[in-house]
Amino acid sequence: VLPRLSYLEFAVRWYGSVRFDLATSGLSPISAAELGQAPVDDYGAREPFKRRVAARYGVAPRTVIPCLGTSGALYVAFASLLEPGARVLVESPSYEPLWRIPEALGAAVDRFSTLDIDAVVSALTPETRVVAITNPNNPTGSVMEDAALTELAAALNERGVWLLVDEAYLELARPAHTARHLGQRVLACASTTKCWGVPWARAGFLLVPPELEEAAGRVEQLVFGSAPPACWAYGALAFERATELGERAKALQAGKRAVIDAFMKQHEETLSWVPPPETSLYGWVRDSRGGSLRERIERGIAERGVIVAPGEFFGDPSAFRLSWSTHPEALREGLKQLEAVLKL
Ligand SMILES: Cc1ncc(COP(=O)(O)O)c(C=O)c1O
Repeated sequence: VLPRLSYLEFAVRWYGSVRFDLATSGLSPISAAELGQAPVDDYGAREPFKRRVAARYGVAPRTVIPCLGTSGALYVAFASLLEPGARVLVESPSYEPLWRIPEALGAAVDRFSTLDIDAVVSALTPETRVVAITNPNNPTGSVMEDAALTELAAALNERGVWLLVDEAYLELARPAHTARHLGQRVLACASTTKCWGVPWARAGFLLVPPELEEAAGRVEQLVFGSAPPACWAYGALAFERATELGERAKALQAGKRAVIDAFMKQHEETLSWVPPPETSLYGWVRDSRGGSLRERIERGIAERGVIVAPGEFFGDPSAFRLSWSTHPEALREGLKQLEAVLKL
């Protein structure tokens, strides 16, 4: 029986249906009509999608495993690497599937909370097979630099441990970049969802070292069978239009961060954060008064039509993830409503 996915249940229930949405972490979606025309029934679309992904990230097409979303790619990665009894070491705070998928596959999960290489290495056990992180982090938005990732990957490689990097938000911070090149045992995954606003295509991918091609390909076949070729056709179109989608993201986000910075400044006695990079669509906010915010946040949804992502799903009930991907007027009004909800 699969473990409960409490964050995803909450997200599916509320995100997109609350008036002032300060919770959804991805860019506002572009419509299929606006993205362009792609055939929906051509099974040949899978190969050109692989080639587009490979060209953008400088990898061999055969090492690109097409998956349904980053979600599907995370599953394929873990299923390719784990056997029952294995252990996985996952950063905290993090995105729920990073620990739920290993649990579902019969692995045990350990957590670590600072991305300090010595701390990660000392948390390894002889059974640890994989260390999993999100870069940029969800929920904090912080980005780990290549030098640190390279060092981490080398320390893990020496011990025969794989590093899995979820790069669902990386295109905004570092276009056309991936950690896949930073070590022999590094896997990376992402999709067109978050940074380009193409969530509906479910065009995701896993980048694997050559020695994992076969194992990951088998899992892909088993899990997705013949996935709808429209995913790959629209995914390839998104890659073809990557520059425009990146510009669209910048235009949609312009000016919003200043609004958020002013909000954080105004409430600095109560709320604190480590400011994420300017390109981030969200940040991780702590309430210094402590206590769980879950009930207040739920009342805010019901009574004031505003939503933020409760921190308890990420491991800290007195924090929340604040996103600014909604349109500017909704952002301003949502922040006003949030002040009332949190009694700021
Ligand atoms: C870190 C992270 N990875 C993966 C996903 C899933 O995205 P996709 O639409 O690519 O499956 C999300 C969605 O919230 C996410 O935050």
